[in-house]
Amino acid sequence: MIENGKLEHDGALRGAINPFSVIEYERRDQRRLCDSLELVADQLPEQVDRYLCETLNEQLYFNLPIYHRNEEALFERIGRRAPSGMEVYPVLNRIRQEHAMHDCYADELRETLNVGCIGNGFQNPDMLGYMLRFFFETMRRHLAWEDLTLMPMVPQYLTSADLENLSTILTDNHSRLRVNLV
Ligand SMILES: [Fe+2]
Repeated sequence: MIENGKLEHDGALRGAINPFSVIEYERRDQRRLCDSLELVADQLPEQVDRYLCETLNEQLYFNLPIYHRNEEALFERIGRRAPSGMEVYPVLNRIRQEHAMHDCYADELRETLNVGCIGNGFQNPDMLGYMLRFFFETMRRHLAWEDLTLMPMVPQYLTSADLENLSTILTDNHSRLRVNLV
């Protein structure tokens, strides 16, 4: 949610102990990130909210890679539990590749947003607009594809031991997030 040009978190993680609920929250946060990047693209070249850009830079640097690692930890466990004929690993490998691509692309995007925010403004707004739109459109497609492939398998195949193990991983990863989780 964007309020007064600032990303706000809805507190959905407060008291959450179920890793699946946490990852669902993180996926909603990825969609909010896409919406905010689209807002910046729409504000170019003159109306860009620099405070929002700074917040997005932090989200892209600190949170997105952690969200990706958490999803991979979840999907890896589905791969171990699903029946052998289900071919989960080719899907998981593609998801890992897309996460790596988005992490790299997020670095380039942050650099360009930073230069525009702290320098003399956005010198090449067309290029930044193209970068922003490419990023949030591919992110949205990626999330939709995960929703169609591995996400529906989560409730069916995760064991209580998986959930406990994931809970430890997510708790550790969340100590590095730039959001208020408590
Ligand atoms: Fe993902």
